[in-house]
Amino acid sequence: MTESKKILLIVSGGIAAFKALELIRLLRAKDYGVTCVLTRAGAQFVTPLSLQALSEQKVYSELFSLTDESEMGHIQLSRSADLLVVAPASADILAKMAAGLADDLASTLLLATDKPVLVAPAMNVRMWQHPATQANLATLTVRGVHVVGPDEGAMACHEFGPGRLSEPQAILAAIEALLTGGKKPLTGRHAIVTSGPTHEPIDPVRYIANRSSGKQGHAIAAALAALGARVTLVSGPVSQPEPPGVAIRRVETAREMLQACEAALPADVFVGAAAVADWRMAAEATEKIKKKPGAAPPALTLTLNPDILATIGQIKKNRPRLVIGFAAETDNLLANAAAKRTSKGCDWIVANDVSPATGIMGGDENAIHLVTATGTEDWPRLHKEEVARRLAARIVEEFQK
Ligand SMILES: Cc1cc2nc3c(=O)[nH]c(=O)nc-3n(C[C@H](O)[C@H](O)[C@H](O)COP(=O)(O)O)c2cc1C
Repeated sequence: MTESKKILLIVSGGIAAFKALELIRLLRAKDYGVTCVLTRAGAQFVTPLSLQALSEQKVYSELFSLTDESEMGHIQLSRSADLLVVAPASADILAKMAAGLADDLASTLLLATDKPVLVAPAMNVRMWQHPATQANLATLTVRGVHVVGPDEGAMACHEFGPGRLSEPQAILAAIEALLTGGKKPLTGRHAIVTSGPTHEPIDPVRYIANRSSGKQGHAIAAALAALGARVTLVSGPVSQPEPPGVAIRRVETAREMLQACEAALPADVFVGAAAVADWRMAAEATEKIKKKPGAAPPALTLTLNPDILATIGQIKKNRPRLVIGFAAETDNLLANAAAKRTSKGCDWIVANDVSPATGIMGGDENAIHLVTATGTEDWPRLHKEEVARRLAARIVEEFQK
């Protein structure tokens, strides 16, 4: 299916250039054609011979090469592929792309192409966080350039933070998502995603809530929709923008959330990312509870809310093929997550440590462990959008089985 798809892989000058070799191997294993372009700086990190041996194609480096121009002109090279991938993308090449510079073969091809472009940035944390790089990225994104990563983690320069090249598997998933374009891999599938907190009223003006922002659930809904799924997003009260192309059902309480999920069935996949309140008031006060001088504070008597994940996971008729729950824990994360997976009858648990020190609840990043029937995958700390993209890619894999 893939052998007709061709990738022009531009390897720029960064310490992560060696990971381009693994990316080529993965692409070739899936029968993609790969032609490499190596920048002058890139050649300080990997040799043209390695790229050539793995891609089984001639490697291009020079803009002013009479031989290359007679074999295949630079304009033709920039358009002969289905997708241009820059991995690793240095701060320098991103700046050139944003500015429209064309002073070497790689930047000229990127300016001359009429094909989609995916960049996988990789650089030192400070270079990544520099307003110049962030502004360049923003410019490129607005122009429709696709971006994968970077990841956060320990770097070759002994610093820690965002800037690490995405893992070759994640770059491959991003490439495949782009290449399947018209026939997206989740076309025809229905996904129900819950997101955000629930609000459980105490009286007409007060409620019990939690710190969930809905960032992760909304990002998952967006990532599944981007892969072609029809998505019903059942959202508690959040201030997140509505993801494009998603049908949104706004609810407040756990009971309303369950009702909206059941009404949206049947579905192929259910992702319960909402932080559903475990308890609600046994009897909600119909009038505002008054503070009376000298009186003791009111005792709030709670009762159990329905368990949405367990209900969907154990449903007899119309059970989604894949039921995915979230386990936000502050202790014994993996043991609790594995227990939750079996007790609730779900297929996967996305486990994350939400102790206040992690800053995950309400933050932009998430460090998760994916607990399945076959084991646990530990993912690096990633932007919630990247977690969403990876999870969506794993869901695609599951449906391709
Ligand atoms: C040892 C070393 C490692 C480097 N690693 C990176 C890197 O990871 N990311 C980056 O953007 N630049 C890195 N640089 C700087 C680039 O190589 C430099 O900006 C170069 O001009 C990029 O050229 P290119 O974009 O044409 O490949 C590194 C330089 C050295 C000497």
